[in-house]
Amino acid sequence: MFETVALVGATGAVGRIMRQLLEERDFPAKTFRFLASARSAGSTLTFKGQEYTVEELTKSAFAGVDLVLASTPDDTAAEYLPSAVEVGATVIDESGYWRMKDGVALVIPEVNPEDAINAKGIIASPNCSTTQMVMALKPLHDAAKVTRVIVSTYQATSGAGVQGTADLLEGSRAHLDGKVHSYKAFKKPIAFNAIPQIGSEKEQGYTSEEMKMVYETRKILGDENIQVCPTCVRIPVSNCHSESITVETAKPVSPEEARELFSNFPGITVVDDLKEGLYPLPNECDGRDEVFIGRIRRDISNPDGITFWCVSDNLRKGAATNAVQIAELLAAHRFQKV
Ligand SMILES: NC(=O)c1ccc[n+]([C@@H]2O[C@H](COP(=O)([O-])OP(=O)(O)OC[C@H]3O[C@@H](n4cnc5c(N)ncnc54)[C@H](OP(=O)(O)O)[C@@H]3O)[C@@H](O)[C@H]2O)c1
Repeated sequence: MFETVALVGATGAVGRIMRQLLEERDFPAKTFRFLASARSAGSTLTFKGQEYTVEELTKSAFAGVDLVLASTPDDTAAEYLPSAVEVGATVIDESGYWRMKDGVALVIPEVNPEDAINAKGIIASPNCSTTQMVMALKPLHDAAKVTRVIVSTYQATSGAGVQGTADLLEGSRAHLDGKVHSYKAFKKPIAFNAIPQIGSEKEQGYTSEEMKMVYETRKILGDENIQVCPTCVRIPVSNCHSESITVETAKPVSPEEARELFSNFPGITVVDDLKEGLYPLPNECDGRDEVFIGRIRRDISNPDGITFWCVSDNLRKGAATNAVQIAELLAAHRFQKV
């Protein structure tokens, strides 16, 4: 088992779920430490029935740590995580900073586990909207080669962290009371609204969130030829991202075949019966670790196209669950003979 696991960003939206998962899944480690910014240092949290003091993240904080699970903003990940690698720790990082760097593995355990096993230093966990989409693409890609994807996302406010959720609740209350709320996580009011911008402006009129879906998909699937056209939208749902995904494949896939491929893929649950009003809903996927798929149908505008609806808990499979699964994969690989 691991000697000492450090949870960096332990007080954040993702960090809180990571703590729950490490506890629920009885993660194999002798010691756990919990780190965050100076703002939270000295506060206490409970883990496995024991009280822990949150430590301040510093560059010298990693002595004796052999595994780091990190979920902080990009600039924090950039500044501090190399210090963990220097002392020999394996780092699994949720931020966007390291994902596309050369030599950094970008891993979804059901899709490219070998990249985690062969990795040294930092292993990145993908962007939440990318993870659920790539989980859905993988079985289609293996069976029929995905050539093009058109995706529109409907992303929950928890994707913007603890402050995103607070903004939705406080902004909705203020709106109903006829008051003005000063939003901190969003540049536009999110209550009773839909914001077609997540992240900053990047190339050709696309946003940073959208370009993550383009580049990360290619890296994880190991195919630079996949064309992805994304539109990422923030909606006033507290948790779970939804996506409308249309896929073109080199070989046509029927809805029946797609249903079968999804059903047989680990980590995907198909909920698909329009007559009965059955399809994945964010409030029903909340707190679940799977990627849910429904509304599977032919793209009526394209004989080589298939289209579907995909929902997943962005804090779980989109973040914490994926990171903990990577850590479990490493533990199984390193310690299975011990
Ligand atoms: N939310 C999602 O659905 C999701 C999904 C995938 C990936 N991610 C990524 O995961 C990361 C964390 O997201 P989140 O949603 O958990 O954000 P969050 O709720 O805002 O939490 C951020 C965490 O980072 C800590 N932190 C901030 N600045 C720090 C500093 N200078 N030094 C040390 N710790 C610092 C915070 O500590 P304090 O409490 O002390 O401020 C907190 O624990 C981000 O990079 C995000 O893009 C998020």
